[in-house]
Amino acid sequence: MYSQINETTLWQTAPRQITLNDADVHIWRVSLNQPEATRQKLWQVLSADEQQKVSRFMFAADGHKYLVARAILRVILGRYVEMSPDMLQFGYSDYGKPYLQNEKLTQTIHFNVSHSGDLALYGITKNRRIGVDVEQMRPLVDEAQFVKSIFSAVEQQAFGRVRPSQKQDAFFNGWTRKEAFIKAIGMGLSFPLTAFDVSVVPGLPAQLLGVRGAPGCQEWSMDALTLGPEYKAAYVVEGRQHQPSYFTFAYN
Ligand SMILES: CC(C)(COP(=O)(O)OP(=O)(O)OC[C@H]1O[C@@H](n2cnc3c(N)ncnc32)[C@H](O)[C@@H]1OP(=O)(O)O)[C@@H](O)C(=O)NCCC(=O)NCCS
Repeated sequence: MYSQINETTLWQTAPRQITLNDADVHIWRVSLNQPEATRQKLWQVLSADEQQKVSRFMFAADGHKYLVARAILRVILGRYVEMSPDMLQFGYSDYGKPYLQNEKLTQTIHFNVSHSGDLALYGITKNRRIGVDVEQMRPLVDEAQFVKSIFSAVEQQAFGRVRPSQKQDAFFNGWTRKEAFIKAIGMGLSFPLTAFDVSVVPGLPAQLLGVRGAPGCQEWSMDALTLGPEYKAAYVVEGRQHQPSYFTFAYN
């Protein structure tokens, strides 16, 4: 469930004709809970290897979510590049970050994907890198150990000052913001999680506070996304000035 305030004031129904300028950051949210009839149509836009991947999931429900997330990514990207979704080809960086392989698009359109629970989130930009992360919040079994292994010293100090009732929010603030950063630079967990600091305290703005050992990244921007009480989400984009728009995808 999304909160009413975001439904009405933040997330818009996407126009069919999309334009994307260098300053734009387009964030899309998608429900992964799609009816069987929709899934059957979406299946048609997947490549043969994506269809095989769907079939290999141990639990059918996980396969369905991958199917919907990947197929709708194709549908959305197809609108930006004015191509049929099934004609898009994905390549993968050495660290596994997907990119559009079709000639001429590789350097221009950047995107990133995250999924958790019943939600997928996509970030789309032009000529600048982007990372997104969404997490469905859940109780943590060994919070102290988790915090020690993924938070930097600065983040651990801030987390330590948060009152107990806000710890879960603070933890997932940190998690999604850190994940969005490593996904933006594309290195995943190969980039040390303690080599940069993000804000974690609930109620304060999402911020990239410092980065060590990645020249240029100090100038990147971070923001949090509100998706209702169950989820935390964030995006990180290359460069300072940008104009975000938030779209809800409806399949029809
Ligand atoms: C793969 C990883 C990039 C994200 O994984 P994740 O958080 O489990 O999953 P998400 O749903 O947010 O993201 C998965 C998507 O990221 C994209 N992705 C994969 N490798 C990527 C990379 N190196 N950089 C950016 N995006 C990447 C893919 O599109 C993938 O979706 P797909 O397989 O459906 O195409 C990596 O960071 C990872 O393994 N993280 C583990 C989570 C963790 O321990 N985080 C610590 C807290 S910061």
